[in-house]
This record gives sequence, C-alpha cells and structure tokens, in this order.
Amino acid sequence: MVSGRGRTAFRSSSSRVALALKKAPAFFLLFIVISSSVAFLLVVSVLQKQNVPDLRDARSNQGQNVFHEDGEEWLWRVPLSRKLRPCTKPTRSYTAPEDWDRYITVRSNGGLNQMRTGICDMVAVARMLNATLVIPQLDRKSFWQDSSSFSDIFDEEHFIATLKGDVRIVKELPKELESVPKARKHFTSWSSKSYYEDIAQLWKTYKVIHVPKSDSRLSNNDVPLDIQRLRCRAMYYALRFSRPIEEIGMKLVERLRSHGKYIALHLRYEKDMLSFTGCTYGLTDNEAKELSIMRQNTNHWKTKQINSTEQRIGGNCPLTPKEVGIFLRALGYPSSTLIYIAAGEIYGGDRHLAELKSYFPNLYFKETVAMPEELEVFASHASQTAAIDYIVSVESDVFVPSYSGNMARAVEGHRRFLGHRMTISPDRKGLVELFDKTEAGELKEGPFFSSLVSQMHKSRLGTPRERKGPLPGVKGRARLRTEESFYENPFPECICKTGHTHMA
Ligand SMILES: *[C@@H]1O[C@H](CO)[C@@H](O)[C@H](O)[C@H]1NC(C)=O
Ligand SMILES: *[C@@H]1O[C@H](CO)[C@@H](O)[C@H](O)[C@H]1NC(C)=O
Repeated sequence: MVSGRGRTAFRSSSSRVALALKKAPAFFLLFIVISSSVAFLLVVSVLQKQNVPDLRDARSNQGQNVFHEDGEEWLWRVPLSRKLRPCTKPTRSYTAPEDWDRYITVRSNGGLNQMRTGICDMVAVARMLNATLVIPQLDRKSFWQDSSSFSDIFDEEHFIATLKGDVRIVKELPKELESVPKARKHFTSWSSKSYYEDIAQLWKTYKVIHVPKSDSRLSNNDVPLDIQRLRCRAMYYALRFSRPIEEIGMKLVERLRSHGKYIALHLRYEKDMLSFTGCTYGLTDNEAKELSIMRQNTNHWKTKQINSTEQRIGGNCPLTPKEVGIFLRALGYPSSTLIYIAAGEIYGGDRHLAELKSYFPNLYFKETVAMPEELEVFASHASQTAAIDYIVSVESDVFVPSYSGNMARAVEGHRRFLGHRMTISPDRKGLVELFDKTEAGELKEGPFFSSLVSQMHKSRLGTPRERKGPLPGVKGRARLRTEESFYENPFPECICKTGHTHMA
C-alpha cells in the first residue's frame, strides 16, 4: 500500500540533473563562467528546482543549505519562552505508592496517539485508585489493524522504571488473580477525582478492575496538581518509544537537519479521514462515491449523510494538499523549503500531491528519507510508522497540521512542553473563505492575500499561553468535551515560570 510515494518522480528528476552534470562538466563550468550574472542566477534557480537532493546520500549535502533567506526569521521563529520551563516534579505532599494488592487491567483503544494519551491517563487513574497497573493491551481492531504489542511500540522497562515512584506497574496480572471475578468498568468520559474516589468502592468486592477503553476517561481540568504532573511525567518521560523506533526516527531527523531547517506537515489527507469527514472538495465523482460507500459501511461512524460544502465552509475539512501549498506560500515560505510529510498513505497519491509539489519540490516522506530496508520491519505496523512520524514532527523546526486530531494535539503539546517550538495551526474556516474568494475571482494570490493569511495566523503559532477552558455557552457535562485537551497544552501545570524553585 505504501508504494514509494513520489519516489519515482523524485529519482528521475535528480538523476536527470546528475546525468547532465556527468556528461558535460567542462562545458557546464565554462558556461557558468562566461554567463552574465543574470543568466547564472537563472541556471541556479532552475537547477535548484530540479535537483531535489537525496537525503539518504551523505554526499548530497556538501556545501548546500537548501534554504536560508534573510529577513524571514519569523518563519523559523526561535521560541520566545526563555522564562518558561518544564516543571513535572511532585509537590511536597506527594507520597510514594504503597504495594497495593489490587490491579487495573486496561485495553487501550484507538490509533497511536489516542492510545498514548489514554495510557498516561490510566497511570494517573491507577495512582488515584491506589492500584497496581498492568501493562495495557493495545488496540488491534481499530481502523489501523496493527498487531503490535506494548513493548513493540514502547520501551516497557523504561516505562516501569521511570514511574516506580508513582505507580507500581507490572507486565502481567499475577497468576493467582487470573481466574478471580473482575469488575469490568467503562469509566465515564472526562471524569474527575471524585468520580474515581467513588470507583474505589469497587475494591471492597474486587481485586481486579478491567477497563475496556482508555480514551478520554480523565478530565482535562479540575484534577489535582500532582496528578496533572504525573500525566506529564508519564507522557514526556516514561512513555518513550521502543529503541528501534527511536533510532530510525532520529536518523530521519538527522538526515533532514543536514539539509537545513524543515517543516513537518501532518497532512491528514488519508482515505479514512476524508471518508469520515465527508469532505469531497477537489475530488473526482468516483473518489467521492468511493469515500461515501466506505462511510456507509463503517458501523461505528454514526453520521452517514454529510453535506460536503457545509463541512468545508464550517472549517471541518482537512486542508487539501493544494490548499496547504497556497497557505505555506502565503505565509512566505520559499519554494526551496524542506517539507517532511508526516502521514500514512495520501489519498489519490501523486495526483493529489502534484500541486503542492509544484510549489514545494523538496517534499519528503519517510519512504524517501529512509532506505527501504530501514523501514521494512515497521512497514506493516501502522502504529509504529505513526510513531516515526511523531518523532520527526516533534523534532521539526515548524510543525503544521492540516487537520486537528489526536496526533496534531499530541505533537503540539509536546512541542509546547519542550520549549514552545513553533506549531502553525491553520484557521481552516478563515482560510477556506479566502480560498473560495480567490476561486470566485474576488481575490488574487499575492502580497495582499499574504497579509490577510499572516494576520489570520498571528495568534496561531504555538506561543505560550494557558490551556483554554470550555467553550462559552455550553452547559452541563458537554462543556468538558469542549475544553482544550490537557496533552495539547499542559500549561500551566507542567510548564512554569523560572524562579518557582519548588517546582523544578
Ligand atoms: C490511597 O492511599 C492514600 C494513602 O494511603 C489514602 O490517603 C487514600 O485515601 C487512598 N485512596 C483511595 C481511593 O483508596
Ligand atoms: C449543501 O449545502 C450547501 C450550502 O448550504 C447548499 O447550497 C447545497 O444545496 C447542499 N447540498 C445538498 C446536496 O444538500
């Protein structure tokens, strides 16, 4: 399925240039020497356009830094967060866990990042319930059909050791408890500490509580500071990826870095997402039909009939690759910008990528930054390849998600935690309005268009701010759902002003 996206085009254009250089180096040099400066610049710019460097070849970056344009510093803004730093140490009243002989077993559900946040919440829940946590089972039935176990994706020993001052974690339920009656409990979504205090009553009857779903079981706010900090310790220190994944991830980061700064673009233009959201803008009739059939046939997707136009103008559609191209160009990123596409298979492949690629030819996927044999062991495991993309995204100079979702939120939060690395969150509703105006001929791409786009995103660059509360006007428990996710922005609990010495 992941058949060398874009690699063919990429190889042929670079080899064409290489061939030309090999055949006639003398002529080429002579040509440069005798040309006027105008002609010289022309040649260089044409060459730069065609010569998309092979990042896997260490020689390809000699003396080359793909882009460095003066006066465009904000595009690669160095974070303005020097006075802020991570603070995850417990307060003085925090105590070590006791050796409770009660257990929580968990089945984590969802894709990689839904499972990651769920696992960290279950660490916090185990702590609140004074229970021993059994290493969670991962979801094998989700859309991604990944058979990976916890230790395939995460460094299990590190997870257990890092949290030993917080929660006792074991690999398996003790043999003698395997056959005892268990409380099977679907925890209520977005629950707070008092809910879990009530749940603790179950210990009077049971020694094991089984939790069949781990996503969003703990509220974002109204949780004691020490529990919030524990969530951060779990997420940012304990739940590290397994060694093979960390290694390949950092290798890709190094290869990209050796060519300069790069944008990680989470291009959520995958079949499942388009089908789920019912967004057919820019697709052919056949494609729209295919996605609609997929939606009708997916049982747990409740909304079957969707008006694509309304979805789009409401800002509920992932930006198309072309729209992302227009967006980044309007922000001022030069066409030489290195872009790493963090995504699964792009729907329609090269056909839908063509326009983005024509604006930004230096477009890479993990398949074009890594050697095929380096990716082989991960290839049939969606969660493992997603983990590689996660690493490259967290480490990028700029992160741009084309849609909001678990991965976008998790990466943004992690980047905030690490020092407010820049994340540009597109205002999809506002952008679509501008795009539609250009399509209707009421607006043209250019300096004015750019200034509108830049203005629109001034406060969407991931700069420090406290986590947002619920949307105004929403009543009851529904408001909990509208709060900004804890892992999207762990400020203020886990990001503090320097000088608060007790926090560290
Ligand atoms: C957990 O243990 C602590 C310390 O022993 C105790 O204060 C607290 O009430 C216990 N909580 C539950 C839910 O059992
Ligand atoms: C979808 O919504 C748009 C805008 O509200 C409307 O013009 C169009 O007729 C709707 N299409 C269908 C098939 O209902």
